[in-house]
Amino acid sequence: MERGGQWTKGKSCDTFNPAGPLLATLIEVSDSARLSMSLHVNGDLRQRGSTATMIFSIPRLIHYLSQFMTLEPGDLISTGTPPGVGLGMKPPQYLRPGDIVELEIQGLGQRRFENQVAVVTGAAAGLGEGIAKRLAREGATVAFLDRDETRLLKTVALYQAQELNARGYQVDIAEESSVRTTLQAVERDLGPSDMMVNCAGIVGPTNTTILDYGADDFDRVIKVNLHGSFLMTKYTLPSMLKRRYGRVLLIASISGKEGNPFMCGYSASKAGVIGLVKGIAKEFPESGVTVNGLAPAVIMTDMVRGCAPEQVEYMTARIPMRRCGTIEEVAAMSAWIVSRECSFSTGFIFDLSGGRATY
Ligand SMILES: NC(=O)c1ccc[n+]([C@@H]2O[C@H](COP(=O)([O-])OP(=O)(O)OC[C@H]3O[C@@H](n4cnc5c(N)ncnc54)[C@H](O)[C@@H]3O)[C@@H](O)[C@H]2O)c1
Repeated sequence: MERGGQWTKGKSCDTFNPAGPLLATLIEVSDSARLSMSLHVNGDLRQRGSTATMIFSIPRLIHYLSQFMTLEPGDLISTGTPPGVGLGMKPPQYLRPGDIVELEIQGLGQRRFENQVAVVTGAAAGLGEGIAKRLAREGATVAFLDRDETRLLKTVALYQAQELNARGYQVDIAEESSVRTTLQAVERDLGPSDMMVNCAGIVGPTNTTILDYGADDFDRVIKVNLHGSFLMTKYTLPSMLKRRYGRVLLIASISGKEGNPFMCGYSASKAGVIGLVKGIAKEFPESGVTVNGLAPAVIMTDMVRGCAPEQVEYMTARIPMRRCGTIEEVAAMSAWIVSRECSFSTGFIFDLSGGRATY
């Protein structure tokens, strides 16, 4: 190691959150020179390592850096490969704007949902899968609900193999008996739920004016997106109200706030979800149960890939950040909304639109 170069404490670096001071007991960290670490990008494991295999040992690093700065409990010393190596992967994997990078240090990572149960619909793919994965990675036991059984089984198997507490249930959120019996089965198997995220939805016709929009198509979009949100909330609330704690999150859309043209069924259904959130939340404001919504702009998923290209162009052109959002950005915000930390917001529609909606 040579003298010179840049030595920056994580605390002073504007891209890091302040971490400390943090007290760790010997149960959590028995030997700091043998700590396993893992690096996740967007929730997927990219690198694993141990402080035991570092070229310079921890005592040597601390001794060396102490010559230049005063180290305090909670300070981060970040070491790593030089920029441009693409996480050391072959082929290299470079980070993109919106990627979420998390370093977990043996048991000291964020686990906000330990001992909590979550129900997430639309969890076989797309945003629902991203949210369910995030909650499970932070310690929740998660019921993955979806209509597409084949895909659901594959998704759940993937996360079970990563030792996450995931269990799959087939449901059609548009059908009352299916919602009722599925939620009963979840409660029987996993216990009462602390969080419910309704993310299942369909887009229906796009790039189509109301003149050509079929009445059956309109009814179907309303049935899944709006009626489904109503049913999922109606059958989730009783046990949360009884236990005086719960977090309900309904995924709406910027279409519901602003009204995207050429997809009137979708825009109307999502505006309905927004009304549902605002109305229901005011029915139980002092119950310990919050009901909120999230209105994302365009996030690249199968749903968007299935839209007419002209429609996607219209929606993306209106995003001031000039990019689509990522599934991980949706998951990160959703996880906060359904956490205990989000305790003074109910009936609110959170924005995730790259600056399109600033209200
Ligand atoms: N992707 C975006 O740009 C975007 C933007 C704003 C809002 N949203 C909303 O986010 C949610 C998820 O969208 P996505 O992009 O991940 O879509 P997606 O099509 O990738 O995933 C939706 C999932 O919902 C499931 N599903 C559909 N109908 C169902 C039903 N009746 N019962 C149970 N499961 C059903 C599907 O099988 C699928 O797995 C939707 O409500 C959508 O309207 C998406």
